[in-house]
Amino acid sequence: MEIYKIRRIRTLIVKIRIFVLVKLGKRLKTMNSENAFDVTVMHNLKGLYHCNDRVKLLIKPLTAIEKVNKNSKVLIIGPRNEHDLYLMASEGIKMSNITGLDLITYSSRIKIGDMHEMEFADDTFDVVVFGWTLSYSSQPEKAIQEIVRVTKSGGLVAVGVEYTNLSKEDSESLLGYSIQEHEKLQDRINSTKQIINLFGSNGGKVYFDHDAPLKRSHTSKEKIQNVSNVAAIVEVIK
Ligand SMILES: C[S@@+](CC[C@H](N)C(=O)[O-])C[C@H]1O[C@@H](n2cnc3c(N)ncnc32)[C@H](O)[C@@H]1O
Repeated sequence: MEIYKIRRIRTLIVKIRIFVLVKLGKRLKTMNSENAFDVTVMHNLKGLYHCNDRVKLLIKPLTAIEKVNKNSKVLIIGPRNEHDLYLMASEGIKMSNITGLDLITYSSRIKIGDMHEMEFADDTFDVVVFGWTLSYSSQPEKAIQEIVRVTKSGGLVAVGVEYTNLSKEDSESLLGYSIQEHEKLQDRINSTKQIINLFGSNGGKVYFDHDAPLKRSHTSKEKIQNVSNVAAIVEVIK
């Protein structure tokens, strides 16, 4: 849908629908995951109205690949609100073929569920968009193996995470709390090599490898506007 290309209209639709469905319709639902962190849902609820364009780093290269087309069945994991879904639709994918999955939902377009244990059948999706959500997992390998299960052989998985060089102490001083519990997760995924390795023998061709080329990180004192991102698009082979 071309109309979703216009940022002002897209974000207005997202915000009006959250207001109507959450405030008036009381449709907000949340769930916890034993593989998430204690603050995951609380932290993301604070940003429910936030519309971030960073997922374009996954969606633009994905939709340039010729095996992706308007009929591709797409799963978007961790959209938080409908914004990622509208961006995907703005690149020509049919809205009826796009499904969101999150621990938070207010919308029939976003199913409530845990990415480590999804209710979809094996080999359901042609494309999975997994943007800025892997860092909320204490079991990144389990999350990727579950994504592999629901993706068709030859399907594509696009993964994005924020680049950081902050220590645990720096992150806590920036936010006032730590998003990740470092005792549950030793190594934060911070490079395309780490992402690709998570696929193990199910990782095929790498169509896109964007390893935070400028290595810009937030600092312990402030969040910067143009933080770098790590992104990879990996083919699933089974
Ligand atoms: C930071 S937001 C990302 C929003 C958007 N994709 C973006 O790039 O701006 C991460 C989302 O992942 C969701 N999430 C975290 N752990 C999850 C899990 N185990 N299963 C499903 N969703 C999860 C959170 O609820 C949140 O909505």
